[in-house]
Amino acid sequence: MARTLEKAVGSTLAFFHGAVVRVFGPTQRPCVSMLFGIAAACSGKQEPCPPGSIRAADGLCHLNESMDSGAPDLEDDLVSITSSLSPLPALPPSPTNAYADDPAAIEFGHALFYEPSLSPSGEFPCVSCHDPEITFTDGNLTGEGNGVVARNALSIVDAEYYDWHLWDGGCDTIWCQATIPIEAAAEMDANRVELARTIYQNDTLRGDYEAIFGAMPPMDDPRFPEKAKPEPLTPDTPMHDAWESMTDGDKDAVNRVFANLAKSLESFQRTIVSSPSRFDQFAEAIAGGDRSGGGHMTEAELRGFALYSGKAGCIQCHSGPFFTNQDFANTGLGARSWLDQIDTGRIEAAEDIYENTFSGVGPYSDDVAYAESFLDGLASVDSQLGQFRVATLRNLEKTAPYMHGGHFETLAEVLSFYNELDEDVFQGERDPRLQPLGLSGDELADLEAFLLALEGGPVDPALTMPPSR
Ligand code: HEC
Ligand code: HEC
Repeated sequence: MARTLEKAVGSTLAFFHGAVVRVFGPTQRPCVSMLFGIAAACSGKQEPCPPGSIRAADGLCHLNESMDSGAPDLEDDLVSITSSLSPLPALPPSPTNAYADDPAAIEFGHALFYEPSLSPSGEFPCVSCHDPEITFTDGNLTGEGNGVVARNALSIVDAEYYDWHLWDGGCDTIWCQATIPIEAAAEMDANRVELARTIYQNDTLRGDYEAIFGAMPPMDDPRFPEKAKPEPLTPDTPMHDAWESMTDGDKDAVNRVFANLAKSLESFQRTIVSSPSRFDQFAEAIAGGDRSGGGHMTEAELRGFALYSGKAGCIQCHSGPFFTNQDFANTGLGARSWLDQIDTGRIEAAEDIYENTFSGVGPYSDDVAYAESFLDGLASVDSQLGQFRVATLRNLEKTAPYMHGGHFETLAEVLSFYNELDEDVFQGERDPRLQPLGLSGDELADLEAFLLALEGGPVDPALTMPPSR
């Protein structure tokens, strides 16, 4: 779906040819503010300008011919670009998770998301790094749990819509993703055997689990080690030895519990989605034939939209309803003092996904064939070095700092980076679609205003606290 949309946008970009060259004559009384021929600040209805022309500040229709003004030809361009970015589509299915839409699993996952005992110290539940007050992020440069994580915490709002999860696309499903922070030493620092026992010994959580997934393995049987998880990269650890001491049947039983907990977490997180932004309201008005866009966007935001889709070229990568083409790119960020681990991005993740027990092609998937066709022969190639997921641009207002390593504190800094591209590329090569933009200060402010118009309303308050029960 994303690819098709991108194609649609790509072809409409060819229509961009802005400068006003010829005056057609007034149709009605002049308006103060016009962009794309939209009478943004006008009262009273205007006749649409003839095809190939736009209404300018003088209230007249002007032929629309060169790239320079940044204003696209109204008729088809505006409608098709806007409609490629909005509305928010229906939630996609999650074929590898048979419990994705099971109400009991959603409720259980809701409880788990807020449950302190998922991290042995009790200090780092999921919500500790995904705070609903700041769009389910944590405000740190990089995540902080039991230790310091290598990357900036992603928001979970709309996460279900992305083809790939994590900054490097290391997971193809959200339930695969959930298994990672639970066992990561720098995050929750748990291990699947102890976690399964924690659930087993908690009457409420065990009751919830068994009502959905059936009987748990007898986790209080002494044959299960106190703590155990596979650590293939550091196989000399007691944790790994303990895991290896288990029978294949017990390993499988514990993995199954771990996968089911992760699937429940996905089921809950699926419900955390954007509510419409002002841009969506504007798009709805346009789709309904109201060329003023219902007055939902300011002039500055509309100028920013024109830059975004035209001269600034953001839409080359940030396309589609989530403002991402669902692909990966190397923006050529420089080094940062706090990013001490070399993070090669997509190149490693592309192969690691096949090694992951909990990926969609693994033994706990509910639809391996679907996941295989999705991965479609994915392999590592050199160009993936330093590539990260093209980030969504919805809901950025509260999610600073930005980029995979928290490189920038403000959106203005991000935009100034794209405008100048003066950082020494840390690794790999900067995507050739990125070129210094030479935008003025006013233009950068317009672009930022547009990005902020993509902020959705608050998510359902019931999701921002543990379930009441
Ligand atoms: C210590 C902080 C921390 C904790 C605890 C934590 N996360 Fe995260 N989360 C992060 C960071 C950092 C990332 C980005 C990591 C990356 O891309 O490598 C992330 C990424 C994600 C994503 C990916 C979103 C996307 O768009 O791909 C999801 C979903 C998520 N976390 C859910 C969870 C769940 C569920 C839990 C609890 C089981 C959890 N997180 C616990 C810090 C944390
Ligand atoms: C070549 C593809 C490409 C183009 C063109 C592009 N971006 Fe990006 N953008 C990315 C990628 C990839 C990331 C994530 C980079 C990273 O963290 O390493 C990103 C990240 C961002 C972020 C940070 C989001 C967050 O949550 O941290 C913002 C904001 C952003 N881009 C805005 C823009 C704007 C505005 C433009 C146009 C001036 C633009 N981008 C052009 C690929 C692109």
